[in-house]
Amino acid sequence: MLSYRHAFHAGNHADVLKHYVLSLVLAYTTQKDKPYWYIDTHAGAGMYSLSEGYATQNEEHAQGIDKLLAANNLPESLADYVALIQSLNADGARLYPGSPAVAEHYLRADDRMRLFELHPNDYKMLSENFSGLGRQVKAEMQNGFSGIKACLPPPTRRAVVLIDPPYEDKQDYDYVVKCIQDSLKRFAQGTYIVWYPILQRAEPAEMIQHLKALNVPDWLHVTLSIHTPSPEGFGMHGSGLFIINPPWTLPKTLTETMPVLRDLLGLDETAHFTLESQIH
Ligand SMILES: C[S@@+](CC[C@H](N)C(=O)[O-])C[C@H]1O[C@@H](n2cnc3c(N)ncnc32)[C@H](O)[C@@H]1O
Repeated sequence: MLSYRHAFHAGNHADVLKHYVLSLVLAYTTQKDKPYWYIDTHAGAGMYSLSEGYATQNEEHAQGIDKLLAANNLPESLADYVALIQSLNADGARLYPGSPAVAEHYLRADDRMRLFELHPNDYKMLSENFSGLGRQVKAEMQNGFSGIKACLPPPTRRAVVLIDPPYEDKQDYDYVVKCIQDSLKRFAQGTYIVWYPILQRAEPAEMIQHLKALNVPDWLHVTLSIHTPSPEGFGMHGSGLFIINPPWTLPKTLTETMPVLRDLLGLDETAHFTLESQIH
């Protein structure tokens, strides 16, 4: 059963980390004048209203993107991500772009997007949100863990892949590792971005151990925890991204900007980030 709806969480601290880093990867990828595929295995609806519907229930964006929108003197790459959000809201709307809309911002005429979303309502919104791009974008109501197989290797031999499951089913942790293993066999050169929640349970850390054990030469792992874990043991107090074949520029950029994100998004004195990488 699909109970997860991303609209409840749109623009929260985890979205900010994920979409900011995605924007860095895509900005780097589009420096080269060669087309690429953007593949999103768990795409969501693509665009979210922060002023009506599910997002108004807990207003998670208040502790996420709203803090960046109110900030001054952001480092250039963070300011670029905030400008992307502002460009959608010039008329006073309160829209927040999901990962496919962040990717659309970087899409050039010869680039392609392949989007997978299983929830029928989110799939409908996703299809409607991107119908204007015609054949450049293909959205499918299919399991992204299996749908990705037909996309790899992409004809352009360049790809950025985002793997962003809800993890409400704890099997998702194993599915991610298997998906990465299989995808690397099909296309070892791709850039793969895996998002995961930081929770008081073993599976997220075990998944990262398994990803590291794949012994890919180049990877980067970044996490941001915004508050002390709850005494009841529940809830997400941070999130992380494990990136295979990251841009070589990413460690330096994140070394400069993660302290800013920690200071803006942290809710107590335990807020912290971690950054580790292996790039040859
Ligand atoms: C965390 S949300 C995605 C958010 C989106 N990537 C973004 O950053 O804007 C996860 C989405 O995956 C969908 N989903 C769950 N299992 C799936 C699967 N096996 N294949 C494709 N989509 C799935 C859910 O309905 C949900 O919309």
